[in-house]
Amino acid sequence: MESQARPGDPCVLVIFGAAGDLTKRLLVPALYNLRRAKLLPETFAVIGVSRDDIDNETFRRDFGISLRESGNGEVADADLVWLAERLYHLQGEFTDPAAYKNLAKLLVKTDKSHRTGGNYLFYLATPARVFALIVQQLGDSGLVREEDGHWRRVIIEKPFGADLASAQALNRDILGVLAESQIYRIDHYLGKETVQNILVFRFANGIFEPLWNRDHIDHVQITVAEALDVGRRGKFYDATGALRDMVPNHLFQLLTLTAMEPPTCFGAEAVRSEKAKVLDAVQAFTREDARCNVVRAQYGAGSLENKCIVPYRRAENVAVDSQTETYVAFKLTIDSWRWAGVPFYLRTGKALANRRTEVVIRFKQAPYALFRDTPISRLSPNDLILHIQPEEAVTLGLSAKVPGPNVQMDGVEMTFNYRDYFKVAPNTGYETLIYDCMIGDPMLFQRADNIEAGWRVVQPVLDAWAEDRVADLLIYPAGSSGPIEADALLARDSRHWRSIKGNDHGKLS
Ligand code: BG6
Repeated sequence: MESQARPGDPCVLVIFGAAGDLTKRLLVPALYNLRRAKLLPETFAVIGVSRDDIDNETFRRDFGISLRESGNGEVADADLVWLAERLYHLQGEFTDPAAYKNLAKLLVKTDKSHRTGGNYLFYLATPARVFALIVQQLGDSGLVREEDGHWRRVIIEKPFGADLASAQALNRDILGVLAESQIYRIDHYLGKETVQNILVFRFANGIFEPLWNRDHIDHVQITVAEALDVGRRGKFYDATGALRDMVPNHLFQLLTLTAMEPPTCFGAEAVRSEKAKVLDAVQAFTREDARCNVVRAQYGAGSLENKCIVPYRRAENVAVDSQTETYVAFKLTIDSWRWAGVPFYLRTGKALANRRTEVVIRFKQAPYALFRDTPISRLSPNDLILHIQPEEAVTLGLSAKVPGPNVQMDGVEMTFNYRDYFKVAPNTGYETLIYDCMIGDPMLFQRADNIEAGWRVVQPVLDAWAEDRVADLLIYPAGSSGPIEADALLARDSRHWRSIKGNDHGKLS
């Protein structure tokens, strides 16, 4: 995080779902990291709301335990004490109006004792089914009314809807209570430095933009490969699947930042409008496209790093005959002047050979004619690879002459690696998002239309799947690169995926 940035506005952060996994694994270390980076105001407090019958002392102790368990590195006692002095717990059911009355009282008291200026930031780290209900209750109890110069903001977690209709309904519900400017819909991919860098990389370097179009780019590949299997998230995941879980949100963040037009300014509305336009220009999937250009599959038994992985259908809380996809790959086209005719191939899956998130821009190949009478039999295309995680780098693949009397060529790479240039502080990705909300900058959050545009693209695929029999759902071995049918999707166009196996980052395939 930018250490010269000013601390966030004074406020009370209210976390609904304070006993949950998200709070413990991500919000607790993020708050601590913000404190370390001096980005929390002195006048700050946190109220955790959960069903647990615990007092403030226990809540404070648990906070410290979660922080240490999160593997955040060394914990400085002084900062932990600073935070602990500002932590409060409130027991309550999200459905119970009395809980909001108690919350209102505690907020007034906390606001007064910590001089937080009447600013409240509500973080909904709860199951999605209670998002609308909590917002409604906050509205009914007057807690989100902005007056006398104070602000009230609400962060809403993912998943935002399970399809287009439910996302629209949720937008309608919360917009009935809150103004769009009060709503901060999270997609944690936007909290990642490497994702934010796509914008800077594209628009702050004059050399790329002239090449960033259908005249020079052959195709684009976006991969979010996870080595993790479903683990203990079976209940949520089996009802969700890879498409809903990853595509309209995380993969489309990478897609839109890669494909958007230059915004008129580095401001929230300009950037979010350009991103929405990309999704609006995606050629709608017909039923036929959904069948030919989308591959879905589920992992079966396999192994990863010598560890056996049980088939998805045998994971905890997963139906033994589950038809939920854990992998999806597809091709889409963007019908715009910049991108017409350039295919975008996207894939994501669990229990794959490696954890690797990257965007590959493959440039058109140079003409071969010059080398016809040389020993060179083919030219390698140039790949520009934006490595998002775990590798944080940008590489450009080039062809170079191998030293010697003959004309021989090899693929070489130019690499910019974040860790070589910047000191990177511990970061969960949530620091930036919480901080931005505290200063009222919604650029890294999803506007209602961004969310709906994402669902609109995937809805025809969901519809086609709902119509089709899935008895022949493809199975890929856990620890592999995914189903061979995903390779066939590109092979049809005489292309192939960049390998996700091994440690070959930057190598031209
Ligand atoms: C979450 C999904 O939104 O993102 C998970 O629900 C997925 O299934 C996770 O594992 C991936 O996030 P990251 O930051 O590990 O790439």
